[in-house]
Amino acid sequence: MTKNPERHKKDPHYRQAKHKGYRARSAFKLLDIQKRFNIFKRAYYILDIGSTPGSWLQVAYKFAEENLVKYKDSNYHRDHFKIMGVDVKKVSPLEGIYTVKMDITNPEFQKELDDFFIGKKLDLILSDLSINKTGNKFVDQLRQINLCFKVLNIVKLYLKYRGVLVLKLFQGQDFEKFFKAMKNEFFKTLSYKPKASRKQSNEIYLIGLRKNN
Ligand SMILES: C[S@@+](CC[C@H](N)C(=O)[O-])C[C@H]1O[C@@H](n2cnc3c(N)ncnc32)[C@H](O)[C@@H]1O
Repeated sequence: MTKNPERHKKDPHYRQAKHKGYRARSAFKLLDIQKRFNIFKRAYYILDIGSTPGSWLQVAYKFAEENLVKYKDSNYHRDHFKIMGVDVKKVSPLEGIYTVKMDITNPEFQKELDDFFIGKKLDLILSDLSINKTGNKFVDQLRQINLCFKVLNIVKLYLKYRGVLVLKLFQGQDFEKFFKAMKNEFFKTLSYKPKASRKQSNEIYLIGLRKNN
């Protein structure tokens, strides 16, 4: 978790995350998104992009494990799950989760995906990526959007037909351009600001429901 003891003392999500054993308060953003959109329904093959310190991976594991029992029926189900986390920073090990320390723009990353998922398409892709900010709002926004377009390329190649994407973006320059590009890929695309998202932050989550090809 980030180091700002004074702010944390007053932050209920931070305290709750500590209490529940989550590595970051962002876990509650994903839990809120799940509650609203049921993104983990029948999700077994999951990729989490920008994973460090790992709270979204913890949440993904919980739901993927539950799915093994919950959806054991004649509809789409699997008897196992696979979760991969990727980040430029190391993720401390989490049982049952494979993590890769790599920049997603590195062409080698696709090989990692192919090797781990063995050519199988994914049910759910999560991206909570945030660039290291330079302080120049214009430049930062451009870099963040460019990175999100890289994620969209991964989504085009690896997410299954009717799969789901959750992606963090910042409102500002080219937001609409990205939103439009994402809308092209899904039957339904929505934007959502989770309750745990700080009010002063301009972050917003885009939810792509049911990939259309
Ligand atoms: C807000 S944090 C993610 C928090 C995480 N969802 C959690 O709940 O623990 C954003 C992460 O994106 C990672 N990141 C930024 N650019 C990246 C890139 N090009 N490739 C991989 N990871 C990147 C950062 O290192 C950072 O750890």
